[in-house]
Amino acid sequence: MATVRTAVFPIAGFGTRFLPATKAMPKVLLPVVDRPLIQYAVDEANAAGIESLVFVTGRDHSAVEDYFDVSYELERELVEKGKTDLAAMLEEMRPRPGQIAFVRQMEPLGLGHAVWCARNLIGNEPFAVLLADELIIGDDLPLSAMIDVHAVHGGNVVLVDDVDPSRTDRYGIIRPTHEHDGVIHVDDVVEKPSPADAPSNLAIIGRYILDPSVMDALSSTKPGAGGEIQLTDAIRQSISTMPLHAVRSGARRFDCGSPTGFLEATAHVAMQNPELAPTMRSIAREIVDTPDE
Ligand code: G1P
Repeated sequence: MATVRTAVFPIAGFGTRFLPATKAMPKVLLPVVDRPLIQYAVDEANAAGIESLVFVTGRDHSAVEDYFDVSYELERELVEKGKTDLAAMLEEMRPRPGQIAFVRQMEPLGLGHAVWCARNLIGNEPFAVLLADELIIGDDLPLSAMIDVHAVHGGNVVLVDDVDPSRTDRYGIIRPTHEHDGVIHVDDVVEKPSPADAPSNLAIIGRYILDPSVMDALSSTKPGAGGEIQLTDAIRQSISTMPLHAVRSGARRFDCGSPTGFLEATAHVAMQNPELAPTMRSIAREIVDTPDE
């Protein structure tokens, strides 16, 4: 079984829930404490041994290219001012030459279409997809475990988490058949079903290991939920020819596609930071002690 060497990051979304902040800045550059959302996702991919990173961008996303590039003026200035630790951090975080590629999704036709736009950079190998607005943090990040499951079972692997049953219409929802050794066998998956139609409350939370044939399925996937070409629909189509497995996330996950999830993630990450935690605690005490208006 081929190892998973490439990750696709679909980042073309408008981020309308964060307007006006996202009017002139891509959503994935919004910072959770000190680093942008996309950096967390890239760190996660690197930690799982991914070698190539493919970003599927939209118009006005050149800031993401700049973010991953050398910033000569800034880095020279940091060195001249003696802030060599910051210069070293930027250098260490920078992708290696040739490690990243950008492909433009010219029209916002859906997540499935965004992934399909990367097909020529994927070739005939399994690949990962990471949705950066699902922030997953902790010591035990799930991508490596997903790659291991793929190595054993092949096919497609998705990461899932329990969601409130009233919220199934925001997610791809799996229909599990049984679970063995932490691996959930799945016989159906539905994009954004209403709570009444949902086959479970196990939602796909933005991490996928996909067989390259999903790209062929995407070539003929018709618009689905929301009138968009859905990745979930292409995975569903593939179930007749290859297995679909799900892995439950053991790490903390924050839906940073919504302002409340973003706020929660920010508080959580700040609390993990020894320099910020005492301030966070005193802010929290002050808020708790303030009577409701
Ligand atoms: C996308 C996927 C959906 C998945 C979700 C996770 O939906 O289509 O299957 O559950 O991401 O965040 P979106 O949030 O783009 O509407």
